[in-house]
Amino acid sequence: MRFQDLRDFVRFLEDKGELRRITAPVNHELEITEITDRVIKSGGPALLFENVTGFDTPVLVNMYGTEQRTAWALGVENLDALVGRVEGLLDLMHDPPQGLMSKLKALGQLVHLASFQPKTVNNAPCQEVVIQGNDVDIYRFPILKCWPLDGGPFITLPLVVTKDPETGVQNYGTYRMQVYDKQTTGMHWQTHKVGTHHYRLSHELGLGRLDVSVALGADPATIWTGSAPLPPDMDEMAVAGFLREEGVDLVKCITNDLLVPAQAEIVLEGYVIPGEERNEGPFGDHTGYYSMEDPFPVFHVTCITHRKEPIYPAALVGRPPMEDYWMGKVTERVFLPLMKLVLPEVVDINMPAEGSFHNLVIVSIKKEFAGHGKKVMHGLWGLGLMSLVKTIIVVDHNVDVHNMSEVAWRVTNNIDPSQDFVFSAGPIDDLDIGSSTRGVGGKVGIDATIKLPLEGGRQGDWPPDIIMDQAVKDLVDGKWSDYGFS
Ligand SMILES: Cc1cc2nc3c(=O)[nH]c(=O)nc-3n(C[C@H](O)[C@H](O)[C@H](O)COP(=O)(O)O)c2cc1C
Repeated sequence: MRFQDLRDFVRFLEDKGELRRITAPVNHELEITEITDRVIKSGGPALLFENVTGFDTPVLVNMYGTEQRTAWALGVENLDALVGRVEGLLDLMHDPPQGLMSKLKALGQLVHLASFQPKTVNNAPCQEVVIQGNDVDIYRFPILKCWPLDGGPFITLPLVVTKDPETGVQNYGTYRMQVYDKQTTGMHWQTHKVGTHHYRLSHELGLGRLDVSVALGADPATIWTGSAPLPPDMDEMAVAGFLREEGVDLVKCITNDLLVPAQAEIVLEGYVIPGEERNEGPFGDHTGYYSMEDPFPVFHVTCITHRKEPIYPAALVGRPPMEDYWMGKVTERVFLPLMKLVLPEVVDINMPAEGSFHNLVIVSIKKEFAGHGKKVMHGLWGLGLMSLVKTIIVVDHNVDVHNMSEVAWRVTNNIDPSQDFVFSAGPIDDLDIGSSTRGVGGKVGIDATIKLPLEGGRQGDWPPDIIMDQAVKDLVDGKWSDYGFS
């Protein structure tokens, strides 16, 4: 399963009965949100609004809005298959093949992998139409005003491209952009993100401007990589190529040197001036609360390129679960094998929708020694964007972290609050509303594993779970209808 571009994915979803075309007139302010919110919360299809009042460009929303659609978007029938591919890749790296045949096979796999690298092309669909100078007007696209108190319309599913001013390595990240006027938007680079790092460096180096390009709509795996918390120098386009099993075609922008996906629907080219900031927000955010106004960099658009008859893609966020929850679920699954490289005791992890990723992580571990649960908390707090997590709950390996009923039962039974809470502090997601200072604050870890004697756990005398004998279960199974049950 491989999608050439966004319209290819639209066709696929339609064939699967997973896309609804809406031809009734709709308003890009609020109305699309209300429709989409209802559809997302009931597990409904992707929506293509073909008749947005005042615009001739259709709006695509909710393409990732279920586990199944997200799996398809990333080229697999189910997420387990994707996790299997990631594990296979890691095995190849840390399990040297023995014997000639195995070595040849591994070599073949590496050559295969190398063919997934991005390729630069000269002719790109995303440059079929080029608009420059005074004709540049981003209001030509149906950019959504999502929620009543929003400060204006926001571009919500962009792939923002910047280059590290020191290493030249490009980054692709998804950061919302508030439209201020026809050639200016906000750039919502939160404190701990890679785009912000490039912006900070350009400021420190005294650069007059930082080139920025923004791709809207490419194949769905490529779009997703913008939301993935990859290490700063890991190339999102190489990851997209691995997912698609085909290198992403990239094209150089018309007015700067940045490379954008050639199959994008729309590209905005421009720059940010280091030090120029303007209030951004409010915005109805994925925490379910508004993020209020705060200063952020300003993006100046100098050129728009697009396909003929482009599709404008958007993702709606708000009170969870929304579409970003499903985009994040894939991240959780794909990153689990990578997390296990550093913390091999980790068995499974769940970032429930209600926790908006940074508020709550539940992790199960194969516990071996006293203090092990606390070691894992600190390990997670030291790992990339996991450092922003406010609450970590650690449970034993046999607990199903995805079953919130079981988690609540185990946690409340197992903890001694006087010794199983770890209070810490550190960087906090900018969107966190509880911490008193933006971007930094308190954290809590709850060690709900079974306590060992050294941890004061009832002198090692931990009571067993109540489980019926298998023989009795089999007996009752065999006689079930005799008792009058169907
Ligand atoms: C729909 C959507 C909107 C997002 N909006 C923002 C945003 O406005 N600002 C931000 O810093 N991160 C935002 N994120 C999260 C980032 O995309 C994510 O942290 C990603 O890792 C950023 O890329 P980076 O690690 O290369 O900085 C958003 C994610 C999604 C799925």
